[in-house]
Amino acid sequence: MINQLNNIEHPNFWDMQYESKKTGWDLNSPNPVFNYLINELPFINPSKLIILGSGKGFDAVLANEKGYDVTAVDFSSTANSYCRELNQKFKTQINIIEKDFFELDGSLNGTFDIVYEYVTYCAISLSKRNQFLKLVNKLLKPEGRFITVLFPIDNREDGPPFSVDYNQFLLETNHLFNLEYLDKNIPSVKPRKGKEILLVFRKPLIIKE
Ligand SMILES: C[S@@+](CC[C@H](N)C(=O)[O-])C[C@H]1O[C@@H](n2cnc3c(N)ncnc32)[C@H](O)[C@@H]1O
Repeated sequence: MINQLNNIEHPNFWDMQYESKKTGWDLNSPNPVFNYLINELPFINPSKLIILGSGKGFDAVLANEKGYDVTAVDFSSTANSYCRELNQKFKTQINIIEKDFFELDGSLNGTFDIVYEYVTYCAISLSKRNQFLKLVNKLLKPEGRFITVLFPIDNREDGPPFSVDYNQFLLETNHLFNLEYLDKNIPSVKPRKGKEILLVFRKPLIIKE
């Protein structure tokens, strides 16, 4: 049996990271790029949003305060406890789902206008990346948007976070989405400057298999 605490596919691994504060990814505040996205990009409007791997929930709170109907999914109970606290503190109404996002109820398929991820795609096993992109596609309504701040686009060897080759990412998303917007000039936190890209994709109206 794989030790659960070394297995990034098991929630205990992530609980342990949160509990021992080995959370190098955690900004302890909303992602400034997400803030820029929802406040300054004219084509993004409050609508039904799901965040995959929502962590402590800062981006979920920000979006809900801006009028988005937010569902936050994470399988770490420690992260979700924090998210619940934030939800109470800021009097927001986030729908928190504590579940492996690969096992989400099929009734959610096709019900979201936006799927957003930040430092989740780079935190899952490389062998699950394709499954993740298919999941995003399934969750979206036709013409819904997939928003990612793709990180880290350096060529680091180890992970998580596992490096993302963004040309490869464009190839892998090609048959599922149309690229709508690409922005490298984004207000990343200092250590991530030049290491991330904001991408917005749209699910086609009709997909012929
Ligand atoms: C690196 S953290 C990023 C959290 C958050 N997006 C942020 O910016 O702080 C990755 C998160 O994804 C969650 N996660 C990883 N795999 C998951 C899965 N299969 N289902 C649900 N959550 C998952 C982890 O529990 C963790 O909270």
